[in-house]
Amino acid sequence: MTQMRPLIAGNWKMHGLESSLDEARAVAGALDGRPAAARVALCPPATLIRRMADQLESTGVEVGGQDCRAELSGAFTGDVSAEMLADAGAGLVILGHSERRAGYGESDSLVAAKCDAALRAGLEPIVCVGETLADREGGRTLAIITGQVRGSLSAGLAGKAFAVAYEPVWAIGTGLTPTLEQIEAAHVAIRGVLVEMYGDHGARVPILYGGSVKPANAAEILSIADVGGALVGGASLKAADFLAIIAAA
Ligand code: PGA
Repeated sequence: MTQMRPLIAGNWKMHGLESSLDEARAVAGALDGRPAAARVALCPPATLIRRMADQLESTGVEVGGQDCRAELSGAFTGDVSAEMLADAGAGLVILGHSERRAGYGESDSLVAAKCDAALRAGLEPIVCVGETLADREGGRTLAIITGQVRGSLSAGLAGKAFAVAYEPVWAIGTGLTPTLEQIEAAHVAIRGVLVEMYGDHGARVPILYGGSVKPANAAEILSIADVGGALVGGASLKAADFLAIIAAA
């Protein structure tokens, strides 16, 4: 269904110092001059966005943030607004990652407010949803993820560029992945809600898969119908691994 180039986005999480920019440059260097079958983005910690954006300028590799505060500005010590990410050179932002939902109690409605903040700043949101192991074992996977999609996407996203990432919580950083059938079923369910919410536009929104994507499993995951890319954590930290995943797209 997805005709667009797949989006391969790396989520560095809380990893990376200035020296790590070597990896980002190696990714861009290896892709340089080749017809890219995929859109490629790296989402480093906020402290590296400006330097990464400067170093990757004109390479085609995009830069994103990992979260933002919904408000424009204010007395929110330690937080970063969508405008600040954009000002630093980001073009995308990951929102509603399960580590934010679990660790900071982020609700669907807060994630929806962050979507509006991202749009206000001209950022393209990548909105994450996914079930826990208890949800899956309890047979609630599709109900949980469709509920998260309904609650975490704002009406303002209609007609705007955004992506959804299906990331089973139990597959993140564990080396475990769902079966190809389980991934497909989740993506079909998410697609149904996107079409319900956004009509024709919802039929074209990329749905990424995330959770232990590696060079060894990327090709089969990316070949599943309606997998429109990957959100890659650990394997995005090393240029060689990330490039192998990009090559599989
Ligand atoms: P992982 O993380 O690839 O290390 O499992 C994915 C994510 O959390 O986005």
